[in-house]
Amino acid sequence: FDISDRKQAEARLQQSLRDKEVLLKEVHHRVKNNLQVISALFSLQAESIQDLKVKSVLQDSENRVRSMALIHETLYRSTNLGQVNFSQYIYRLANSIFMASSTHYGHIQLNYDLVPVSLNLETAVPCGLLLNELITNAIKHAFPNRRVGEILISLKQLPDSLELATSELAITPAQTRPPKPRYELKIRDDGIGLPSNFAIENLQSLGLKVAYDLALQLRGTLDLKTQGGTEFRLVFSELTYSKRL
Ligand SMILES: Nc1ncnc2c1ncn2[C@@H]1O[C@H](COP(=O)(O)OP(=O)(O)OP(=O)(O)O)[C@@H](O)[C@H]1O
Ligand SMILES: [Mg+2]
Repeated sequence: FDISDRKQAEARLQQSLRDKEVLLKEVHHRVKNNLQVISALFSLQAESIQDLKVKSVLQDSENRVRSMALIHETLYRSTNLGQVNFSQYIYRLANSIFMASSTHYGHIQLNYDLVPVSLNLETAVPCGLLLNELITNAIKHAFPNRRVGEILISLKQLPDSLELATSELAITPAQTRPPKPRYELKIRDDGIGLPSNFAIENLQSLGLKVAYDLALQLRGTLDLKTQGGTEFRLVFSELTYSKRL
């Protein structure tokens, strides 16, 4: 057995790992670029259209695609390629929606209260799209006629629930894995609040329906509070990665 063979094999492995990391970054970069192109196409279409309703639908699509592009950008900038720095993503996403909206004349304050959390792509994408809907809504609907107010986005890790731990233990006694951390994401505004006849079942619009579907996809819960404005609270855990091929 020759020790230098082993050294060489190890070096080759290291190199191959580095190559793959570069490749993965490149892939995220390209996905981001492609999504940006799609988003720009929506934007161009929106500009060329007179009908205000159609225009705003195209602008919404532009924003949705941009939110996904931003995830891939956050990924290729991160040192751990599988994990999105989610707090940083929230910050950048909210700012980008805010800047893109035509109503930010200084009457709305955007505030954050975020703990550092990193999430896999599986979880970050639906969370990001959900955030996109709720932030867009707050900016679009909560502060009409330049009403002054604040949007607060907060992300917390919830303390481990003892109940959950014991019930999990009861089902699979052999399992000693601790329960997965649960997170609480809140989007709160102190605006005019939802219409008094608001009922999620009767919605004709797409945005909030999408938000509830995304919460379901995350196997999370999305509740609504309507005192002194509107507050959506999503509780979720990281989804486990499932192979697609
Ligand atoms: N933060 C909010 N403050 C006040 N009203 C809100 C808020 N969020 C939603 N609404 C109301 O709830 C309605 C439904 O929201 P939803 O996102 O489903 O539709 P939309 O924003 O009108 O259209 P889109 O499908 O483009 O999202 C809105 O039209 C608005 O009247
Ligand atoms: Mg909406």
